[in-house]
Amino acid sequence: MKTRANILQRPTLLAQSICGAYLTEEDTAVDCTCGRGHDTLFLAQRCRRVYSFDLQEEALSSAQKLLAEAGLSHKVEFICDSHARADRYVTEQPAVIMFNLGYLPGGDKALTTTAEETVRAVRAALTLLRPGGLISLTMYPGHEEGRREQEQLCRLARELPTDRFHCLLADMLNQSEMAPRVLLITRKK
Ligand SMILES: C[S@@+](CC[C@H](N)C(=O)[O-])C[C@H]1O[C@@H](n2cnc3c(N)ncnc32)[C@H](O)[C@@H]1O
Repeated sequence: MKTRANILQRPTLLAQSICGAYLTEEDTAVDCTCGRGHDTLFLAQRCRRVYSFDLQEEALSSAQKLLAEAGLSHKVEFICDSHARADRYVTEQPAVIMFNLGYLPGGDKALTTTAEETVRAVRAALTLLRPGGLISLTMYPGHEEGRREQEQLCRLARELPTDRFHCLLADMLNQSEMAPRVLLITRKK
């Protein structure tokens, strides 16, 4: 018998399954941390257009290969720039904006997302996002920069105006403090 992946045990799958509920085939989405392209592929399978950002050419070329193999390259614009500048490239209102923070699996651990840049990127994403849309952030507090990043992102989310945004933190209550968490922000209007 085929077993299903357990989405509570895999935060990236949890983030994807919630993001999927916010997407239709007509929508646009943004992957703010393209990496090897797994989230970009997930988004391209479910919507019309995806903007996918990464600072590393190495990441973008392996993601481009993944999307080409899936026959979905035509849906994706790969952008080698910081997600903090997403508003310079994204011309439509996205329904979903995903961040999977930290460093490239199998890559240089020094090239991680940083608290200050990610906070800037989330502020830009909040203005880009379509009303009714979703920002998803998978956070990794198991390393020092990831811990600072989570702290600053949770502070930003707590301070968002309640009449315009709704925020949810998925926290694995009986797991280590180092366990990844998923932060979700929806724009009400
Ligand atoms: C955890 S990986 C993403 C994994 C990816 N979602 C996947 O499915 O393979 C994080 C990525 O964020 C990228 N990154 C770091 N800082 C960035 C920035 N300011 N703007 C865009 N990407 C950034 C890194 O180069 C790395 O590839």
